[in-house]
Amino acid sequence: MKVAIASDHGGMNIREEIKTLMEELGIDYEDFGCECTASVDYPDYALPVAERVAAGEFDRGILICGTGIGMSIAANKVKGARCALVHDVYSAKLTRQHNDTNIIAMGERVIGPGLAREIAEMWLTTDFEAGRHAVRIGKIADYEERSGQ
Ligand code: RB5
Repeated sequence: MKVAIASDHGGMNIREEIKTLMEELGIDYEDFGCECTASVDYPDYALPVAERVAAGEFDRGILICGTGIGMSIAANKVKGARCALVHDVYSAKLTRQHNDTNIIAMGERVIGPGLAREIAEMWLTTDFEAGRHAVRIGKIADYEERSGQ
């Protein structure tokens, strides 16, 4: 598995925590920034990650900002991106099993690094159940096609 990870200035600590986790799990990743401590704009980080995941260059994406909300809104504008804003381990599990999410967003002003690590580990290690859930995801993909996204 290859993961693209990025944060804005509000998510840099959790980004480092998740990178450490992925190194421990032997998961290959690429860090898309940000590298600064000044304020940056979350779409500049969410959109490149979502585009690369949607294009198949990366299997998954992980995005962190202050709340996770801006990152998730931006990522879900990219056709083929299925990004969930997740702040609990149960949702991390279910959003893989039922939604086949290829990106998660988290907020560093909402949860701490310990919980973020548990969420990321659950999300990275849980498989999609397919079946009836694949039909539902197919309806979202059909909508993307019909609406010309
Ligand atoms: C930055 O101040 C903050 O707005 C951003 O990190 C994120 O929470 C946006 O949704």
